[in-house]
Amino acid sequence: MLIRTPKPSEIKENQVTDEHIYQNRRKILKSMGFLGASALMVSPHARAISWFGDDENKTFKTTPLEFSQPKVHQSDEALTPEQKVISHNNFYEFGTGKSDPVTQSQSFKVDPWSLSIDGLVEKPLTLNYDDLYKSFDLEERIYRLRCVEAWSMVVPWIGFSLADLIKKAMPLSTAKYAVFETLYDPDQMPGQRNRFSGGGIDYPYVEGLRLDEAMHPLSLMSVGLYGKTLPPQNGAPIRLVVPWKYGFKSIKSVVRIRLTDKIPKTTWQQLAASEYGFYANVNPQVDHPRWTQASERRITSGGLFTRNRIPTQMFNGYPEVASMYADMDLRKFY
Ligand code: MTE
Repeated sequence: MLIRTPKPSEIKENQVTDEHIYQNRRKILKSMGFLGASALMVSPHARAISWFGDDENKTFKTTPLEFSQPKVHQSDEALTPEQKVISHNNFYEFGTGKSDPVTQSQSFKVDPWSLSIDGLVEKPLTLNYDDLYKSFDLEERIYRLRCVEAWSMVVPWIGFSLADLIKKAMPLSTAKYAVFETLYDPDQMPGQRNRFSGGGIDYPYVEGLRLDEAMHPLSLMSVGLYGKTLPPQNGAPIRLVVPWKYGFKSIKSVVRIRLTDKIPKTTWQQLAASEYGFYANVNPQVDHPRWTQASERRITSGGLFTRNRIPTQMFNGYPEVASMYADMDLRKFY
């Protein structure tokens, strides 16, 4: 398995980031006292506090996070501007339009939070809100996120390896799959109130991975992006990011991870099994019935007429995962 681990000197921050974002980010970090002699090599642990804005401007407030240098994959592509990443979202619990999540989720409460890991494990465990930021080494990983709808983004996520979390619970040898569940709270999530408002999904939203996929070092539990805690529209306080799979596998606002010996039926499979398979690996050779998977529109700082269509890469450009599927017909197991 090949995992490219760039030395900090290999990628300069200002080579991968839009200039104004880069400057802004440095300003934020500086104002928090994070940019000293040690630059981004700060304490591996972070404490994050969220609070709500005043009534006139009810915007969920995020907090700068401390993180260390990445241990696994980076990207040298230009980052998608933060403003686009936090305003163009799929989060059906807050509505089915791309701008619904940002407008409908700003008073979402993330503290207290509870994330449990149970099922076929020796030591079931529960993390509270503070544990999400304190129990693991947080690192920044620049990953592509490609949606099955054929758009993609490059995002600096902050988080920790899902494998580290699963190992803490000590999986039993019978465990074969990890099943993930999003919070079910119709009072806070308008999309869960009826079938119409939530795109016909039978909530809670469920996703699943084979255990080897879940334990792969690229699988990330993300608690932040662009140097700060996650905003609700991107899955606060904690979401999964599996960069070689279509975006819908990257479940948001996770409250439960259950290890099981049975392949789970995921939300999108339940809704349309012919369109959404369990594996959902990015694969330019197998088209979705409604969208090509051979190319994608990279969301950049440009406007509507920017030429930003690029070829889609197998496994979204993460060849180190290929060995997990070596003997599988990926047309059948889509
Ligand atoms: N998780 C939940 N709970 N509900 C959702 O509707 N949408 C998925 C995924 N995770 C979704 C979810 C889809 S379709 C995509 S493309 C990504 O989130 C989008 O992540 P982003 O909004 O951070 O770009």
